[in-house]
Amino acid sequence: MQEMGVKVMNPVIFHECPKWAALSLPPKITKKSQYPSPKFFMSSTHLHFHTKEAGNVNKKTLGSGPAAPRSRPRYYKEESDNVDEIFKSMEDWATHNILPLLKPAKDCWQPQDFLPDPSSPGDGFYDQIKQLQARTKDIPDDYFVVLVGNMITEEALPSYHSRLNSTRIFHDNTGIDTSPWAVWARGWSAEENRHGDLLNKYLYLSARVDMKQVETTIQYLIATGLDVGISSNPYVWTIYTSFQERATAICHGNTAKMAMLHGEAKLAQICGIISSDEKRHAGAYTKMAGKLFELDPNEMLLAFAYMMRRKISMPAHLMYDGHDHHLFHHFSSVASRIGVYTASEYRGILEHFLGRWNVEKLAGLSSEGREAQEYVCGLPRIIRKLEERAKSKAEEAPPVPFSWIFHRKV
Ligand SMILES: [Fe+2]
Ligand SMILES: [Fe+2]
Repeated sequence: MQEMGVKVMNPVIFHECPKWAALSLPPKITKKSQYPSPKFFMSSTHLHFHTKEAGNVNKKTLGSGPAAPRSRPRYYKEESDNVDEIFKSMEDWATHNILPLLKPAKDCWQPQDFLPDPSSPGDGFYDQIKQLQARTKDIPDDYFVVLVGNMITEEALPSYHSRLNSTRIFHDNTGIDTSPWAVWARGWSAEENRHGDLLNKYLYLSARVDMKQVETTIQYLIATGLDVGISSNPYVWTIYTSFQERATAICHGNTAKMAMLHGEAKLAQICGIISSDEKRHAGAYTKMAGKLFELDPNEMLLAFAYMMRRKISMPAHLMYDGHDHHLFHHFSSVASRIGVYTASEYRGILEHFLGRWNVEKLAGLSSEGREAQEYVCGLPRIIRKLEERAKSKAEEAPPVPFSWIFHRKV
């Protein structure tokens, strides 16, 4: 399972630690010193940092969750001055170019297409479960840790929909708004809902994991919330989601390849079909961001630099199971070690977007814009230098117990 890279979720990333920016102040990025030095780049495949607010909530209401955050980084700006007009001008374009990337429910796969059928005659249902368990019983624990982490990330969908709805552009005022942005947000959430559902049921039937611990982690995660530096700025949102959806596609794709290597073709099919959804979603967000780069290149560059400076943290980075205060870090480390998501994937995704959005060629920029351009275009070279160190760190990490697999160590 090694040779592939990870999910979303999660690559070795920088860990200078972004403490989050105060949402109220959107200072412009004007000085080079505001961009971090690569010395902070770390080898945990998933970023993990926490906001002060999240840390406090954990302590007060959830017991002892993830560690409290360090400081907050400077924030970009809440929104470009003309963001409403720009998104308004894109509505026809989005209707014809983005909404077709959603699939009607009648044309979509559903979890039941890949699971034992409870309505099978005779003992068919039970036989199918026995076969599933026979196929999974020898798959290594580290694979299941990563699969569970991916599933938990999918299951925190309520947090993602809530954050998307908190942006002024994607906000769904009535619950049935007809703007293409609201239609997209609902359709995207509806498609995503199948991912956690399918993985959850598969893992339950496999009998390989401690479902109560997994379910407890999901509850903690949704209650704790989501804090990945996107605020309500729709420019930052399109960049974050483009990156994150592509990373997720890679992660599920890699767990699919590994499942095949372990002889479990059905699981490979499951991870593969989820990965293809993620690719389609990534394509939609990438198109949105690309259009914004055409219409407002300077502000998009500032948003891009802000997001990369802060690092793309995975959406489940605040996960906690009631036992491990560094659960996400440990999960990320395993994902990196087995090759589901590594620093190389992170760099590769960044390079993909630099090319796709033609960032190096953007012209007519302000001095801040040019500085942001120079920063993001130079990042892959810096990351490449640090990949080896990140890889070694993940490989040398001592085994830790995971409650998800009955506290066995991996
Ligand atoms: Fe998903
Ligand atoms: Fe997704």
